[in-house]
Amino acid sequence: MILAVESSCDDTSVALVDMTGALFFHRSLSQNDLHAPYGGVVPELASRTHSERLPYLVETAFSETGLSLDQVSAAALTVGPGLSGGLLAAISFLKGLCWAKNIPMIPVHHIRAHLRVAMDPSLVIPRESLGLVVSGGHTHLYRIREWPDLDLVGQTTDDAAGEAFDKGAKALGLPYPGGPEIEKQSRLWDGPLLKFVRGIHTKNPFDFSFSGLKTAFVGQVRQAGGDLSRIPQFAASYQSAIVAHLVSRIEKALETFRPPALLVGGGVAANEHFRKALEILCDEGGIPLHIAPRPLCGDNAVMVALTGLELFRTGCRVNSPYAEIRPRPRWDED
Ligand code: KG4
Ligand code: ZN
Repeated sequence: MILAVESSCDDTSVALVDMTGALFFHRSLSQNDLHAPYGGVVPELASRTHSERLPYLVETAFSETGLSLDQVSAAALTVGPGLSGGLLAAISFLKGLCWAKNIPMIPVHHIRAHLRVAMDPSLVIPRESLGLVVSGGHTHLYRIREWPDLDLVGQTTDDAAGEAFDKGAKALGLPYPGGPEIEKQSRLWDGPLLKFVRGIHTKNPFDFSFSGLKTAFVGQVRQAGGDLSRIPQFAASYQSAIVAHLVSRIEKALETFRPPALLVGGGVAANEHFRKALEILCDEGGIPLHIAPRPLCGDNAVMVALTGLELFRTGCRVNSPYAEIRPRPRWDED
């Protein structure tokens, strides 16, 4: 078995898979309710909570499945990029556990894990595919030269797409995280949509930018003066504008690179409007689209387990004294 842990942001998640990738256990504990009063993730609160919940979740994984640590061949864990306190909580806990039981560890790159579950793990990710990760912390577009090597071709120049959803939701008085709330409200509206900004300019044609859109949106919401009946229209218009911007940049990248596949993951990839827009775009362009299944779009330990399993098969594992296992909050820059 591979035991896997994810703790890079505000979800504590544990999974157990066997050597064929079959899932035996998966449980995530969200910290949304803890961070909601602050309108975003508070890193210190997140790391303390991971530290409290992780031993309990791992214990539960074994007690519910009847499996034991003796059956674990390796422990995979996210070591970055992410919030250092949360990464350290899982690293410290697993180092102790693995040292005691002489279990090797597999350090997993969070972004690669999001992309790995976008495509069926039994398939090889084709060279030169494009990969997009859209979450609360990332809006990053990569060329996958040869899996798992990623070349960044575009990224947000300000807020991430999920952050834009969260800030917009806050302006409408909706709870955190805002993306699912905006999506829910949007379903209540099928009338005309509001326009917010005419064009979004970035130097790099594959970069994204959401702050102008968000400022224009917040301005119009204020002008509406708290008219609650308008929330669905505002939400649907904002969602549509964010998705249109994402799609415009992806379209440009597809035309330029003509990739053999487009892989999409991250919390925002759960958005139905976005998924449909991507399907239409890829259909028209004749490019195979692979989006993570909705339950695996946000942070989860299954993606860590499957990425870890792939690494394990290639011989990647770290034995005692685990010096290589350290938090890498900015993995791509260190
Ligand atoms: O990947 P994720 O769980 O965590 C990281 O940020 O790494 O992504 C969370 C983000 C939040 O900003 C949340 O508002 C957004 O993903 N999100 C959505 C949806 N579900 C989650 N945004 C739009 N529509 C959704 N259905
Ligand atoms: Zn993530």
